[in-house]
Amino acid sequence: MTDGKKMTGEVYYPAPEIIEHAHIPDYDKVNDEAVADLPGFWGKIAAENYEWYQPWEMVLDDHNAPFYKWFVGAKVNIVHNALDRHMRTATRNKAALIFEGEPGDSRVYTYQQLNYEVSKFASVLRALGVSKGDRVTIYMGRIPELMIAMLACAKIGAMHSVVYGGFSTEALLDRINDSESKVLVTCDGAWLRGNIVPLKQIANEAVARAGTLQSVVCVKRTGQEVEMIPDRDHWYHDLMALPIADPGAPTEVMDAEDPLFILYTSGTTGKPKAILHTHGGYMVGTSTTLKWVFDIKAEDIWWCAADPGWITGHSYIVYAPLILGATSFMYEGAPTHPYPDRWWSMIAKYGVTILYTAPTAIRGLMRFGRSWPKRHDLSSLRLLGSVGEPINPEAWKWYHRVIGRERCPIMDTWWQTETGNFMITSLPSMPLKPGSGTRGFPGVVVDVVDEEGDPVPVNEEGYLVIKTPWPAMLRTIFGDPDRYVQQYWSRFEEQGWYLPGDSAKKDEDGYIWIIGRIDDVIKVSGYRLGTAEVESALVSHKAVAEAACIGVPDELRGNVIKAYCILRQGYEPSEQLSIELRDHVGHEMGPIAKPSTVDFVESLPKTRSGKIMRRILKARVMGEDEGDLSTLAD
Ligand code: WT7
Repeated sequence: MTDGKKMTGEVYYPAPEIIEHAHIPDYDKVNDEAVADLPGFWGKIAAENYEWYQPWEMVLDDHNAPFYKWFVGAKVNIVHNALDRHMRTATRNKAALIFEGEPGDSRVYTYQQLNYEVSKFASVLRALGVSKGDRVTIYMGRIPELMIAMLACAKIGAMHSVVYGGFSTEALLDRINDSESKVLVTCDGAWLRGNIVPLKQIANEAVARAGTLQSVVCVKRTGQEVEMIPDRDHWYHDLMALPIADPGAPTEVMDAEDPLFILYTSGTTGKPKAILHTHGGYMVGTSTTLKWVFDIKAEDIWWCAADPGWITGHSYIVYAPLILGATSFMYEGAPTHPYPDRWWSMIAKYGVTILYTAPTAIRGLMRFGRSWPKRHDLSSLRLLGSVGEPINPEAWKWYHRVIGRERCPIMDTWWQTETGNFMITSLPSMPLKPGSGTRGFPGVVVDVVDEEGDPVPVNEEGYLVIKTPWPAMLRTIFGDPDRYVQQYWSRFEEQGWYLPGDSAKKDEDGYIWIIGRIDDVIKVSGYRLGTAEVESALVSHKAVAEAACIGVPDELRGNVIKAYCILRQGYEPSEQLSIELRDHVGHEMGPIAKPSTVDFVESLPKTRSGKIMRRILKARVMGEDEGDLSTLAD
């Protein structure tokens, strides 16, 4: 690949034994094949690695692009491939999930046991009136029942809509209403740093105002007293003890293109978008990317330290590892509880071989110094991963040296809720450059272009674009197909390219360096938030007439939110009010959306048509040039 050819910058070359061990020892070869014949490439993978109830007539249908279809005409269910088929092989007796709770309790589910729970809960959902195509909202902490609930939905062909447990009332309510969910699955509470996050209480506030919801199922986790509404609310353990909870529940036969789930994510404007993924393409894409990028083998213990509430968890905690028959580890709580070595102690205890986490977590743990990881035997680790935001070379090197003991390559994976799986990523066999996402996954043609769509010169910033379709791509925005076209496919409509909304550079070696979002999306600790959502939470406070938010760089969290508010008549700026407004956003949206500062202003920079010019606010904070001011109102 790059043998003999000198690459520019700081480069870490993989050891020969790593290349030898890898599923894909030669990236260029596989990528060339894939790009030359995309349907042939994916069709072969799909035929060899999964069970289909009925084969496809066509691998890729692009007649109605950007409404692409994959494996057209095939019948499948992702759960058949994640669970059912393993019941016939030795995988049945293997650990699918090893779980450790924050208080230290631990559970292991074999594939057989997981299938048993999923099947029972699937029939419970059916008994609650959920059928194919219905939506179920799931709002829980990081516990095995979250995974069971998701798989149970998929098994009966219902779409799950998981709302991250760190979100609060308004965010949950919006998502329940937009999805028109019939059932909510939640838990009494979640453990976080020894405290209880009262999820059922938050859910009660939301459900009281939700239109379509008929039933609530509540898992007992933290054990405190919670309010249960008769007829509407049921304990999970009560339902699972009923004769209707049938461990032999059948798996629904789905079209490959039938919806699997929706997942809300923040966009440029207005309310969050419900990104829709399907059974067939998502199954093939997520599991192939996991297998190749993290080189998953039978003996591995894979730890994706994300939350199942985000796409990372959907793809790489729940679906892909199970499809591969792998063993996953999942931890409920905070990385630093009770001490900053919690993660390292669990890696040693369970013999985790691959750790996949976010730069913000690495930076957070780096602060405590190397003595904490040093007291643990981390020799089981063989690969590391990073996702969510660009990783600064300093954090990369610490991760590589202190955690990976200079033996473990770091896979930097760029992707999105929309893409469903890794898109720009290293493979274990590739030379690594700290901070670069490396190259497109085989078959994914990426480029960095200017306004006209022409490639920008080497090392210059431009729009990141994706030029080829891929199986796990989003199919639409649920309930808003026009917005799907407008948001992702209109910028380079003529060329038919997908616009992720990031800016990037490409270096001499063709390596991609992600710079950041080009829209009004802010990445705080890797979490994706829209300025519009935080602003509307601020404006919902009685003191606020108008608000604008921007993201500014932060050493630990990547970015933090700075808010500017114009107060209504009768309210005076004060430190007290600023704190109250931050707490208000925390209550409405969740702690992650809290602005780090709230400043009071008399006016906001706007265009003549009344749009807030956030880039001017940002340029002022950063002490940068304010750029073109010709559209500014005054
Ligand atoms: C945005 C998508 C998909 C997993 C988690 C985030 C940023 C993601 C990287 C990376 C640089 C990254 C991009 C992207 N991003 N991974 N490895 N290097 N930036 O999913 O919440 O949909 O956010 O996260 O800006 O557009 P998401």
